[in-house]
Amino acid sequence: MRIAFFDAKPYDKPSFDRYGQENGITFKYFEAKLNEDTVDLAHGFDGVCAFVNDTVNAAVIDRLAEMGITTVAMRCAGFNNVDMRHAYGKVHVVRVPAYSPYAVAEHTMALLLTSIRRIHKAYIRSRDFNFSLSNLTGFDLHGKTVGVIGTGRIGRVFVDICRGFGMQVLCYDKFPYEGLDNGDTIRYVELSELFEKSDIISLHCPLTEDTYHLIDADSLKLCKRGVVLLNTSRGALVDAEALLEGIKSRHVGAACLDVYEEEGDLFFEDKSGHILEDDTLARLISMPNVIVTSHQAFLTEEALENIAETTVQNLLALQNAGQCQNEVCWRGGEAKDCKDGKCF
Ligand code: NAI
Repeated sequence: MRIAFFDAKPYDKPSFDRYGQENGITFKYFEAKLNEDTVDLAHGFDGVCAFVNDTVNAAVIDRLAEMGITTVAMRCAGFNNVDMRHAYGKVHVVRVPAYSPYAVAEHTMALLLTSIRRIHKAYIRSRDFNFSLSNLTGFDLHGKTVGVIGTGRIGRVFVDICRGFGMQVLCYDKFPYEGLDNGDTIRYVELSELFEKSDIISLHCPLTEDTYHLIDADSLKLCKRGVVLLNTSRGALVDAEALLEGIKSRHVGAACLDVYEEEGDLFFEDKSGHILEDDTLARLISMPNVIVTSHQAFLTEEALENIAETTVQNLLALQNAGQCQNEVCWRGGEAKDCKDGKCF
């Protein structure tokens, strides 16, 4: 089997080459992102492998189908960049539902600690032999209340980590996880209560029609003054302009963002020699209390191994059985609608 691998980065290749060779799959790596202009690179291949910032829209899906390509292997969990309604009946879309919830949850805590203990400032100071502690005062996490929105695989690991720090946890999920609420230190509450009572809010839900701009001017108004916002899920969960206003008005105490709504042409790339066109992002990055990492939360050795292994198994399952448990839209099925990762 030959797979056209889009948006390839050097760190993708070792694990994909190894699992591919062991299973008779050849990956051809293209640095280009998959979109309407690049889709023809897949001509003659058996499938495409895409990532979070590739565009699998109606035009791309139609062109893939025209070229006889019916497999789209997403090497990520989220698939909000795939037009699922259009994909249905035309291509198989498989994904990697979980590669390392620990990687993302641990990165979230790393961002939080960096931010509130001013590590990003202290690191730069001590490299310049500036050993002053002025303006580096942080606060204890112990005893603080964290609101966790989305208690799936990653959210639950983050809850565990927060409990390790002695924090009170308020959870919100459209589909609460049975057994997580202990009636004491971990409680499910309504979203409005979570906004009102949390010192820190961390987003771990998928991007859907329901969750688009979940954090906007209105929800920020409900939050405590000084709230710390963590987003390692999807950029469009947060209205970045509203967040910027919240930072400027001092209502938001700090923000840690691993994702950004308009990250598509920026994140994962070296733009250091360029003028950043996105004023909102530039202004956010310029703030002393905002930390931005470029969709890095997943990037651990363990996660890269799991991504490659599961993607190869997904491809083999489609080749051998014509279906796969990690399929999100079944080409031959009867699904009518797709929402929150499930087809109905
Ligand atoms: P998951 O599917 O295990 O959990 C998602 C949870 O969100 C579920 O419990 C679901 O019921 C809940 N949910 C769905 N709709 C909701 C709504 N409207 N309001 C509140 N909760 C809702 O997913 P997992 O593995 O925990 O991943 C969470 C998100 O993390 C993914 O959707 C993805 O966007 C993001 N992610 C980010 C990565 C990064 O590198 N920054 C890497 C991997 C995932």
